[in-house]
Amino acid sequence: MKKIPLSKVYLTDEVKQAAVKAIESGWYILAKECEAFEAELAKHTGTKHAVLSCNWTAAMLMVHQAMNLKRGDEVLVPSHTAFPSIEPMCHWGAKPVFIDIDDTYCMDVEQLEAAITPRTVGILPVHLYGHPANLDRIFEIAKKHKLWVIEDCAQAQGAKYKGKTVGSMGFCGAFSFFPSKNLTVMGDGGCICTNDDALAERIRKLRNHGRQDKYRNDEIGYNLRFNEIQAAIGRVGLRHLDALNEGRRKVAARYNERLKGIVPTPPARDWAYAVYHMYVIRCGDKRDALAKFLQERGVGTGIHYPVANHQQPAITKLFKDIPKLPRTEKAVGEILSLPIYGELPLEDVDYVCDSITEFYGKK
Ligand SMILES: Cc1ncc(COP(=O)(O)O)c(C=O)c1O
Repeated sequence: MKKIPLSKVYLTDEVKQAAVKAIESGWYILAKECEAFEAELAKHTGTKHAVLSCNWTAAMLMVHQAMNLKRGDEVLVPSHTAFPSIEPMCHWGAKPVFIDIDDTYCMDVEQLEAAITPRTVGILPVHLYGHPANLDRIFEIAKKHKLWVIEDCAQAQGAKYKGKTVGSMGFCGAFSFFPSKNLTVMGDGGCICTNDDALAERIRKLRNHGRQDKYRNDEIGYNLRFNEIQAAIGRVGLRHLDALNEGRRKVAARYNERLKGIVPTPPARDWAYAVYHMYVIRCGDKRDALAKFLQERGVGTGIHYPVANHQQPAITKLFKDIPKLPRTEKAVGEILSLPIYGELPLEDVDYVCDSITEFYGKK
């Protein structure tokens, strides 16, 4: 029987050789590989700076600290995202104000203005599943109400909004290299990209014990650094990222073609260069039965995410005014993520589609 995983890291001899070379170099933390990776990430995203950290969550914790996010501040954020999108702001006492989704699973920008209060300080759009959020409208609203915009690009490295790479348009963009992501480093990893010199400098300092130089610490920081082995691995991955994203888009196109009329497939806007971190179908009340059917045929699936963040116990314990978000609440019961990664052979995609067609009895 075939075995088709939901996702797969990019692992080649070139990656292994880069890791061995880094191990043998005698340098392990924030040295030449990290410096080069940062320069290459900034170039790829189209920003002045990229600052590595040990994961997205750590990087965002420092970003919110640098921005002086404080108790009572409100941030507009989609509920339908990975839980970490909202964790760092909660650590500084800010409140996530949850927004419902549109049909692309990104925040519904038409609901933003009604959610703004005198305490609102920013908007955190998430380019979910690799599809960019509707940034023009978000920036228009942010400008009118004097709010900052930070892009959650954890699932969208290399995606483009009207030709511009995501992560280059907000105050900063934050990326994750977690093993399922489009760019991976064989473990945790993350970075922020920004054009703001002061933000980049502050994060560089905070991630390294508030160090001004080797023996002088001018503020209380952390150890949220990155390492040379993973940077060397990431550099190889980044060189292949665009081709791997193209591979994902070919997989998505094949799914779209083969699943048309069988299950609702994910829509993409004309202005979006989506990089399909996930390929998510809607299955109504048949979701769990279909997942089981596919598992029996060796096909890995996932649910991203089965619990909406505004209904997570950690959130309902913290905040009283929990909103009703009908589209999000419906989606979490119906969505199913199918296997996708840059090197997934189209014959495997066909196998998944044949299995889904068989499940729905449409042969
Ligand atoms: C949309 C989104 N935001 C944030 C994160 C957090 O990333 P990390 O695991 O690198 O902290 C993830 C990863 O799960 C994610 O998918």
